[in-house]
Amino acid sequence: MSSTNPSAKGNPSDKDRVVIFDTTLRDGEQCPGATMTHEEKLEVAQLLDDMGVDVIEAGFPIASEGDFAAVHEIAKRSKNAVICGLARAGFADIDRCAEAIKPARRKRIHTFISTSPVHMKYKLQKEPHEVYEMVIAQVTRARGYTDDVEWSAEDATRTEHDFLCRCVEAAIKAGATTINIPDTVGYTVPEEYFALIRMLRERVPNADKARFSTHCHNDLGMAVANSLAGVKAGARQIECTINGIGERAGNAALEEVVMAMRVRNDVLPFWTGINTTMLTRASKLVSAATSFPVQYNKAIVGRNAFAHESGIHQDGMLKNAQTYEIMTPESVGVKQTSLVMGKHSGRHAFMHKLEELGYHLAGNQLEDAFVRFKALADRKKQIYDEDIEALVDEEIAHAHDRVKVLSLTVIAGTQGPQSATLTLDIDGKHVTTQAFGNGPVDATFKAIRALVPHEAVLELYQVHAVTEGTDAQAEVSVRLSENGRAVTARGADLDTLVASAKAYLGALNKLMSRRGRAAAAERRIHSTEVG
Ligand code: KIV
Ligand code: ZN
Repeated sequence: MSSTNPSAKGNPSDKDRVVIFDTTLRDGEQCPGATMTHEEKLEVAQLLDDMGVDVIEAGFPIASEGDFAAVHEIAKRSKNAVICGLARAGFADIDRCAEAIKPARRKRIHTFISTSPVHMKYKLQKEPHEVYEMVIAQVTRARGYTDDVEWSAEDATRTEHDFLCRCVEAAIKAGATTINIPDTVGYTVPEEYFALIRMLRERVPNADKARFSTHCHNDLGMAVANSLAGVKAGARQIECTINGIGERAGNAALEEVVMAMRVRNDVLPFWTGINTTMLTRASKLVSAATSFPVQYNKAIVGRNAFAHESGIHQDGMLKNAQTYEIMTPESVGVKQTSLVMGKHSGRHAFMHKLEELGYHLAGNQLEDAFVRFKALADRKKQIYDEDIEALVDEEIAHAHDRVKVLSLTVIAGTQGPQSATLTLDIDGKHVTTQAFGNGPVDATFKAIRALVPHEAVLELYQVHAVTEGTDAQAEVSVRLSENGRAVTARGADLDTLVASAKAYLGALNKLMSRRGRAAAAERRIHSTEVG
């Protein structure tokens, strides 16, 4: 059994079914550095749909041309999931959102406004009665486009109860079918959040006409606990993200809420439609697309989540896995790390392995990945699943890069200065330079800066080994920021410095494509103004 339907223990009832609303592509993607390309967003959305996510919040269409295009394309390609877009209270937001989700078979508009005193006074600069009127207007406008409208009271956990009840009642009356109660600043605790949801369900006269939803941020590390407390109090939708990515400390992690309800179904008797064996794949894909590494000890999907290091634990595990394992690795899609293939493995075996790991490559992308696999197998004796994942993730992430590393020679060691001689392919043109630096990484990045002049600032540089052993591939993460916006990228290679150059260039390519999109949008606006 892979979904979290507890049918093994009795008949699941619809009243205990929790809707999983994934906001990885909206709240997750809007956090600093987690930007995904258009293609990456489509791939993540497809996986979420295949995994059984009920609602995919695909973006914030009015925020940018890129967001609009991604929501629109995801809406076109959606199979089962409801495709949702976010909109503020203004009609322009709602109209743009409706346009973006139009092609979806099942569509939702999610519209929100702040209701807490601090947000109304300083952020909106509006009186409560004005906000109240806007709630009615925004929901009514959204209902003109679809029957499925979600309304959120931003900063609900710091909102006065009487006012929150009035707004919720008005939103339901105007046609909202889902009422979301966000803990926007990650401030609440489980008992308090439980009481808030219960209070709303008891006091709002038409509460039974809508589904209540949780949306908890993790600033105090309680997003998952708070979400589950909300469900216990009667909420039947959880808003969450893969790996818990999101604003600041992130959102409730999808894999954690889903597995908590599955593993502790005795005390959390609820179920979801998620195919849990896809959780690990989803985590890896989102990590690769955003270049946000997953913390080693992260619940459910961290690489140590099923590792048993101490002798006592290993002994217990050998006697009976239940001694130290509360869920099986297979139930979340972890396969035992296997020695997969070597240099004699052919194209067929490679394709089979990709399918097994959940990748669907075709055409040039498959060909390029195979060539790179063969090159790696020539240099590395033992190739593990993780090696192939690093290689393919990189292939997907860098497929559309304008600037690529062709060769790098570095002189390092105790006798400085260290130097790097680098040749890049920039839009098909080959250029070379040599640079000196304080250490080989500094020299390499200076060479890149000389060949591709830019103002972006390096905010993060991180290295980790993909597998064990001194011949392991290095995976490097780099975050660059420009004009207050950050992007992160990863590069993998047997050579740490080549991986570093690839990661740096990956981030630079993302910045360049963002600049290109911004310029194109400006040209479009200009031509409509002129025309
Ligand atoms: O955290 C929050 O309040 C949000 C809303 C837009 C739902 O993300
Ligand atoms: Zn949020």
